[in-house]
Amino acid sequence: MADIVATTERLVLREWAEGDADAFYAAMNTPAVMRWLGGVQTPEQWRAAYDRLAGFTRDFGHTFWIVERKADRELLGLCGLKRVNAPGAPNPGDFEIGWRLRQSAWGQGVAKEAAIATLDLAFARFAAPYVVALTVAGNCASWGLMERLGMKRRADLDYTDPRFGPELNPTIVYSIDAAGWPAARAGL
Ligand SMILES: CC(C)(COP(=O)(O)OP(=O)(O)OC[C@H]1O[C@@H](n2cnc3c(N)ncnc32)[C@H](O)[C@@H]1OP(=O)(O)O)[C@@H](O)C(=O)NCCC(=O)NCCS
Repeated sequence: MADIVATTERLVLREWAEGDADAFYAAMNTPAVMRWLGGVQTPEQWRAAYDRLAGFTRDFGHTFWIVERKADRELLGLCGLKRVNAPGAPNPGDFEIGWRLRQSAWGQGVAKEAAIATLDLAFARFAAPYVVALTVAGNCASWGLMERLGMKRRADLDYTDPRFGPELNPTIVYSIDAAGWPAARAGL
């Protein structure tokens, strides 16, 4: 059994376990889910991405964790904390929250519920001074969630990611700091 990182009303956030990488790829590698993430991935691209996620666990003790529905342990996606490592980013190493859900889990507040648990962990367990979130202007669902969480735009941290073309640039950045999270959380 993989270690559980957090539980919420409806969800379990847990470490990755044997077999998760294949199950995740099968459920999540769709044009809709990957639309703002560079498009569907080859197995080799996913393996490299998975290895990077495992590297964050090894190096920092946190990563984008598996999100499951508590009731039936269905794999819903990922949410968690990594460190900024994108080419071109001006703030490498900053704590970065991220989320990706299978399409059937959109529109139910699942990402928000997982993100609240992740921000709690970021500040209480991992002592993050602040947490950033990265997306692109077209990904309204993602920056909408950032705003609903009380994160603030940090245009000073925006950057061009050389891996992508104009539709996926610039990367836009939001953040929230440890001092601001309790009040933001109380208003959710
Ligand atoms: C980004 C993503 C995770 C957002 O998921 P989401 O389901 O829209 O986000 P939330 O969990 O905040 O849910 C909000 C929606 O659930 C609804 N909802 C239903 N029940 C709810 C509840 N109990 N609590 C909160 N919201 C609820 C809200 O009204 C809202 O719906 P709306 O968008 O129609 O207004 C999702 O779109 C996704 O996985 N996209 C593909 C991957 C991706 O682009 N990731 C981000 C890369 S930067």
